[in-house]
Amino acid sequence: MSKTSADPKKVFVKTYGCQMNVYDSTRMQDALELDGYEPTDSLEDADLVLLNTCHIREKAAEKVYSEIGRIRKLKDARAGSDRPMMIGVTGCVAQAEGEEIVSRAPAVDLVVGPQSYHHLPALVQQAKTGNRVVETNFEIDEKFKQLPAATAKQHRDRGVAAFLTVQEGCDKFCTFCVVPYTRGAEVSRSVKQIVEEAKGMVAAGVREITLLGQNVNAWHGAGPDGREWRLGELIFELAEIGGLDRLRYTTSHPVDMDEGLIAAHRDLDCLMPYLHLPVQAGSDRILKAMNRHHSVADYFNVIERMREVRADIAISGDFIVGFPGETDKDFEDTMRLVETVKYASAFSFKYSVRPGTPGADMNDQVPEHVKNERLQRLQALLNQQQEGFNGDCVGKEMQILMEKPGRKPGQLIGRSPWLQSVIVPDTLGQIGDIVKVRITDAAPNSLVGI
Ligand code: SAH
Ligand code: SF4
Ligand code: F3S
Repeated sequence: MSKTSADPKKVFVKTYGCQMNVYDSTRMQDALELDGYEPTDSLEDADLVLLNTCHIREKAAEKVYSEIGRIRKLKDARAGSDRPMMIGVTGCVAQAEGEEIVSRAPAVDLVVGPQSYHHLPALVQQAKTGNRVVETNFEIDEKFKQLPAATAKQHRDRGVAAFLTVQEGCDKFCTFCVVPYTRGAEVSRSVKQIVEEAKGMVAAGVREITLLGQNVNAWHGAGPDGREWRLGELIFELAEIGGLDRLRYTTSHPVDMDEGLIAAHRDLDCLMPYLHLPVQAGSDRILKAMNRHHSVADYFNVIERMREVRADIAISGDFIVGFPGETDKDFEDTMRLVETVKYASAFSFKYSVRPGTPGADMNDQVPEHVKNERLQRLQALLNQQQEGFNGDCVGKEMQILMEKPGRKPGQLIGRSPWLQSVIVPDTLGQIGDIVKVRITDAAPNSLVGI
């Protein structure tokens, strides 16, 4: 039997980019569900397709247009039927390109920037009348006040480890980066909002929460004690929630790593020993050109302080090779920094020119083949370090949070304190349990335990 317009409508959300987009996608789905749109995993079955996009590098942004081209065929096939399809673009490409998206891809019915998601159900209604809708206002706090809280079922369906955005936007203006333009100025959510949301998650069975922000450690807010709190104090407060066994936070900026956060790592067992601390480059000259506001020595200092209080902390990072003006010597400095820090994992990218950022107007753009060579060398070293880190786990016992079924029957996939995926037999416990596991084998991207 074919579907009729009386059946519930379905929304398919495809998420690109960072974890904040993953979180936003869930909040959009929750808001739309109240409005009669059930989430679906099937693009073909959707009445509304949302592409939650990323603008960070050129490739990420361009991907969206090829995807729209593909979906347009499905939309065209349904035109005139009683189940027309609508296409929406949300996320950072929506913010950066706005109206341009509908001129370049007329199949798109609505464009909604990251700070307007609380209007999404109303905007979808508006787009249904056949008018194209483009909304890219900045009013971050309003969004979080107005978006509906997820229900226990919605939390439960998403699993035992969850994301919670506590901070959005960025005032740092690194010269390569679009985020300050796509997400707007730094804004922190209130302690009350965050604690309430965390409690709701835990009551629904969530055992691990990752606090998110483009600059999560720039979070600040008025504490119940009347003082201005920073992220460390917020983490101490969240650690009091019974049943919340694990906390993480990402992404941190080196200049916002303060003693409060270091103290949280020193005193709280529930704060996982893992720090994602992007440095981007290992040359002071390039860091300055990137407007990072810290030196290589500052970065080493932070890591040293962290390791003093939590010797087992795993460090991860982000790197850009081929920023304008980067010489062979600058690049060698980055390699040296990596050798000194020893990363448990890392992301590394070729510099991508982003229109509207200061980097785009800089002279001395680095040729593509040089970027390629540098990236290959850097990634070889980072992979070697990651394999070394995983290899060192073999023979050790660690607490694993069982997260989801494995690929093969009889397996579960769990998460180590150091964010590694661990494949374990399902006889060890159920999803949501934290169990002691002995690591028997290590691969570049996962561990095996019994
Ligand atoms: N807020 C985080 C990271 C945001 S973007 C921070 O400050 O560290 C995630 C990563 O994408 C960055 O850390 C950087 O390594 C990379 N990135 C950002 N802009 C880029 C560009 N123009 N070209 C290549 N990589 C980029
Ligand atoms: Fe981008 Fe820099 Fe802000 Fe991170 S700190 S989001 S890299 S501008
Ligand atoms: Fe991409 Fe926007 Fe996140 S540009 S990395 S989705 S903040």
